[in-house]
Amino acid sequence: MKNFTPDLDRLKAMGRYRSVGLPAGVDFSSNDYLGLSTHPALRQAAIEALQGGIEIGATASRFLRGHRQAHEELESFAAAYYGCLRTLFFPNGFQANYALITTLIGRYDVAIFDALCHASMRDGLHAAQCMKVKISHNNLEAFEDALKKPIATGCNKWILVESIYSMDGDIAPVRELLMLAEKYDAILVVDEAHGTGVSGATGRGETEGFAHNRLI
Ligand SMILES: Cc1ncc(COP(=O)(O)O)c(C=O)c1O
Repeated sequence: MKNFTPDLDRLKAMGRYRSVGLPAGVDFSSNDYLGLSTHPALRQAAIEALQGGIEIGATASRFLRGHRQAHEELESFAAAYYGCLRTLFFPNGFQANYALITTLIGRYDVAIFDALCHASMRDGLHAAQCMKVKISHNNLEAFEDALKKPIATGCNKWILVESIYSMDGDIAPVRELLMLAEKYDAILVVDEAHGTGVSGATGRGETEGFAHNRLI
C-alpha cells in the first residue's frame, strides 16, 4: 500500500496542506454575500415546509419517487424569474457543473474554457472525453481563434466561463462571448455562482436580459 506521508509532507512544505476548522471572526471568505444562510424569511419557509410534512431527504432519485411538487414549483418559479424555458436544480454548484459537462458535452465535441473556471468545471472537463482547449483568462481573441477551428459534423463547440470570477472578482465579457457563440455556432455556458443576486439590473446575474437558445 502506498504511504501518503511524503505527499502530505510535500503539501505542508508548499503551504498547501489544509484542515477544517470552525469559522471565527468577520466573514470575508464565504460565498454568503447576501446573508441568505441566516435570512429570517428562508428560515421561516424551511420551518413551514417541515411543519407542512415535507420529507427529510429525497427518498430516491427524482427519476424514481424523489420528485416533489416543491421541485416543480421551484423550477417553474426560477424559469419565469430568469426568463428561460426550463431550469433544473442540483443540490450544489459542484454537482450542477459536473453533471452538465459530463452529460451534455459529447466525446467528439470541443470544450473551450477560461483558465480561471472553477474547479467543479475543471473536474467535469477532466471526466468528459471531449477535446479541451484552455484559454488565457478573459482573452476574447484566443476564444475566437479556438472557435474558428472546424469540428466534425453533428458535434458541438462549447464555451465555458464564469460570469463573475471567484478567484479575482472580475467579469466575463458575456455579451461578446454570446456574439462569438452565434458567429461560430457554439453554446455558451455561464456559471453564475457569484453573479446571481449580486449583478445584473435586477440581480439576475451577468446574463440578465440575454435569454437565448445558445446560452446555458
Ligand atoms: C464559480 C463557482 N462555481 C461552482 C462552485 C461550486 O459550488 P458549491 O460550493 O455549491 O458546490 C463554486 C463554489 O465556490 C464557485 O465559486
